[in-house]
Amino acid sequence: MEETLQPKKRMLSGIQPSGDLHLGNYLGAIKNWADRVNEYECYYFMADLHTITVRQEPAELRRRSLSQLAQYIACGLDPEKNVLFLQSHVPAHAQLAWVLDCYTMFGELSRMTQFKDKSAKYKDNINAGLFTYPVLMAADILLYQPDYVPVGEDQKQHVELTRDIAQRFNSIYGDVFKIPEPFIPKTGARIYGLTTPEAKMSKSIPDGCVFLLDSPDDIRRKFKKAVTDSDTERCVRFDKVNKPGVSNLMSIYSTLTGKTFEQIEQEFEGKGYGAFKPAVGDVVIEHLRPIREEAERLMKDKAYLNDVYLKGAQQASYVANKTLRKVYKKVGFYQI
Ligand code: TRP
Repeated sequence: MEETLQPKKRMLSGIQPSGDLHLGNYLGAIKNWADRVNEYECYYFMADLHTITVRQEPAELRRRSLSQLAQYIACGLDPEKNVLFLQSHVPAHAQLAWVLDCYTMFGELSRMTQFKDKSAKYKDNINAGLFTYPVLMAADILLYQPDYVPVGEDQKQHVELTRDIAQRFNSIYGDVFKIPEPFIPKTGARIYGLTTPEAKMSKSIPDGCVFLLDSPDDIRRKFKKAVTDSDTERCVRFDKVNKPGVSNLMSIYSTLTGKTFEQIEQEFEGKGYGAFKPAVGDVVIEHLRPIREEAERLMKDKAYLNDVYLKGAQQASYVANKTLRKVYKKVGFYQI
């Protein structure tokens, strides 16, 4: 194996512990994370501070903050090689967010599409946190001086704002922050709901959503009920426009087996949807089985998970506090 002398580029991303993880999260993102570690120095954190911008059930948030960690590890994210931590364990996030609040304009935040969407959706709770959410996100990022921030399309605007805030700050105080690039991964499939193949798979439609911890029976049932298409040819063929349901199932099958669409079409030629749907279900069941079993095993080992979070918080704090000290000094806070 060839050793590179260049230091690895750094990558950081946050995930809100706001819902249980599902096949769309897995095939679209998590599945590729484990490979990245060879090329990048990776930081992943659970953005629990962000999660409370929308009302949460405290016991549920607490449960998910641990169970998501277990699930990420079970999916192959090695805590020895990646820094995994909980945002609220590293106070520097909230501390830098306040400073950056003072370098972010009201107008900029008013233009954020996520703020507009969320304030329309949660009309009776348009809190200040929802408004300043992108500034906390900028703090999350800039504390770690990452080269890349892997995010979905919906978060790109927030990374753009982060760059603007960083550039503004740097233009006043010198090179304090590295200007990060958004990173839209090349690999990763976009998976749609099994009952709503026109919309992204989402926890809000549980019937069409396969959760990583679903039992084999649940998964089998969900695939049985998967929507196929009402076209007359009734054959397995990839055609996103006319056959979105079948095409979605083919994407899932292809990502998990490595088979091409052509190979899948041949495999199911003359067999129709009745054979295809359970076959996809079976592949998913077998793929998720070891993940579910490992996550369940880890959930019983709370001491281990706490230890991962503790070590992660220590490693993260070391990097974050270095940046925060620099910022405090630059803006003129008296240091003792
Ligand atoms: N806002 C992101 C989301 O909802 C989560 C997030 C919070 C994040 N802080 C971040 C992502 C920092 C990348 C970097 O998906």
